[in-house]
Amino acid sequence: MVTRRRLLGTGLAAAGVGLTGASFTPLLAVDPAKASPSTAATPDQFAVAMPRMPVLRPTFRTKTTDHYDVTMRPVRKEILPGIQTDLLTYDGNFPGATIKARSGRPVIVRQHNGLDVATSVHLHGASVTQTNDGDPMDTLAPGGDRLYTYPNKQPHASLWYHDHAHHREAESVYRGLHGSYLLSDSIEDQLPLPKGEYDVEIGIRDAHFDAAGQLVYIMDDLERTTLLTNGVPYPYFKVAARKYRLRFANMANQRFLGLQLADGSDIIQIGSDGGLLPRPHTTKSFVLTPGERADVVIDFSRYAVGDTVVLENNVIFNGTAEQVGRVMRFDVVRTAEDPSSVPAVLRTLPPLPTPTNERSINMHMEEGVEHPKAYLDGKVYDGSRVDSSIRFGASEIWSITNTNTRVPHNFHMHLVQFRVIERGGKPPAPGESGLKDTVMVLAGETVKVQATFDTYRGSYPYHCHMLDHSAMGMMATMKIS
Ligand code: C2O
Ligand code: CU
Ligand code: CU
Repeated sequence: MVTRRRLLGTGLAAAGVGLTGASFTPLLAVDPAKASPSTAATPDQFAVAMPRMPVLRPTFRTKTTDHYDVTMRPVRKEILPGIQTDLLTYDGNFPGATIKARSGRPVIVRQHNGLDVATSVHLHGASVTQTNDGDPMDTLAPGGDRLYTYPNKQPHASLWYHDHAHHREAESVYRGLHGSYLLSDSIEDQLPLPKGEYDVEIGIRDAHFDAAGQLVYIMDDLERTTLLTNGVPYPYFKVAARKYRLRFANMANQRFLGLQLADGSDIIQIGSDGGLLPRPHTTKSFVLTPGERADVVIDFSRYAVGDTVVLENNVIFNGTAEQVGRVMRFDVVRTAEDPSSVPAVLRTLPPLPTPTNERSINMHMEEGVEHPKAYLDGKVYDGSRVDSSIRFGASEIWSITNTNTRVPHNFHMHLVQFRVIERGGKPPAPGESGLKDTVMVLAGETVKVQATFDTYRGSYPYHCHMLDHSAMGMMATMKIS
C-alpha cells in the first residue's frame, strides 16, 4: 500500500521540485481529534460546469486611467447543490470579478466596505506605494470607502487581490474575499499563445462545509476537504480539441496542490507568479502552494471528441484521495482551428544585479500544541516594528529557512518580484526560474531568493502565505528607505 507520505513525496518529486518524502509530512499543527465532527458529505464530482470568472467593468475610463467601483458585501449563493451558503464577497461575486489591466495604464479601484468587519485590499504581486498596498494595519472600517491606486508600472503578470486585515485575513479570504487581476503588456500580446476564449483562469481553493452547507472557519482546520474551482465543487469544463492557456492560481489558505492530468499527459508550463517564464517547461505535474500562480498550456488535440481527462491533485493531505485527489474534469466536446503555438523563447529577463546585501530569515511555528504560535525570526508580527531595514536600490539575497520538522511553509514578499537562486543548495527547478513573489519552503529546507528594491520606499510586509500562519503572526515588516 502506498502511504500518504509516499504519495505526497512522489507527487512533489514528479513535479521536478526535487523533494524527498521525508522533507514534507502531511500534518499541520492541530490535533485532528479537535476538528469539528459536523461536516457535509463530499459533493458529486463533475456534475456542474466550471464558470468562467466574471470580468469587472470599469465605472469610467479617462485618457490615462481605468476607474472601478467595488462593494464588499455578504451574499448567499448556491455552491453545494440546493443549499445557500453565506459568503463575504467583492460585489457579490465568488471569486471576485477579474480586473483586466494593461502595463503602463493605471487602475483606480474605489472599495466600499459593506461588511461588518474591517478589511484591507491587497493586490498580491503588484508594485504599489505603501498606502495602496493593503497593509495589514491600514484597514478600511465597515461602512468606509477608500481608493486604491495601481500604477501598473510592471510587466504582464497574473496577479490576484485579497483581504489582508491583520488577524482577519485568513478568515475573510476563506469566506470569499479573493479575485484575479490580469495585467497584460505588448511583450505577451506579440506571442502566438492561445488567446481569447482559449485563455482561461482557474482559481482553486478548498473549503469546510458543515452539515447545513455553511462554511466553517477554524484556524489550521484539517477538514477543508471540498475543493472549489472558480467557486464550484469539482466542475467539468467543456473544451475544444486544441491548445488552451490555463492560468492556475492557488487561492486556498493552507492547501498545497500538485496538479497533473490523470493520463499522465504533458503539461507545458509557460508562466509563474510574475509572468511568462524565459522558456516553456514541459512537465507531467506542477506544484502550487497558497498564493502561487502558474500559467500552463494543455494541448487537448491529443484527445478525440467525446474523451474526458481529469485534473488530479497529487498532494493528498487533509482529506482522502476521493476528496482532494481530483480537482476538475476537462470534457473534449468539439474540434476547433488552432493557430496558436508555444514559442521556444517566451521572454528575456534582465540579468540579476550583483547583490549588495544578504540576510537570513527563519520561519518556525509550534508543532503539536492546540493554539500554536508562529514566528518569523523568532518574533510574532507587530505592525509597529521594523524587522528589516533595506536601502533603496539594494539588491538582496534572502536565505529563508523553515526550521520546522513537519510543518511546511511558503514565503511571500510584497512590492517585489524576486528570483529563486537556490533551493536546498541546488539551482531552482525550471518552473521556478522566472519572476516569483511566493515560494514554497518545506520543513527543514532553505530557499535563497534575490530581490531588488528600486521601485518605492516605504514599509511592506513579508510573510508565510498559508494565511492561517500569517494570521497567527508569521509575518514581519521591511522598510525600504
Ligand atoms: Cu497575498 Cu501579503 O499577500
Ligand atoms: Cu502580497
Ligand atoms: Cu507557514
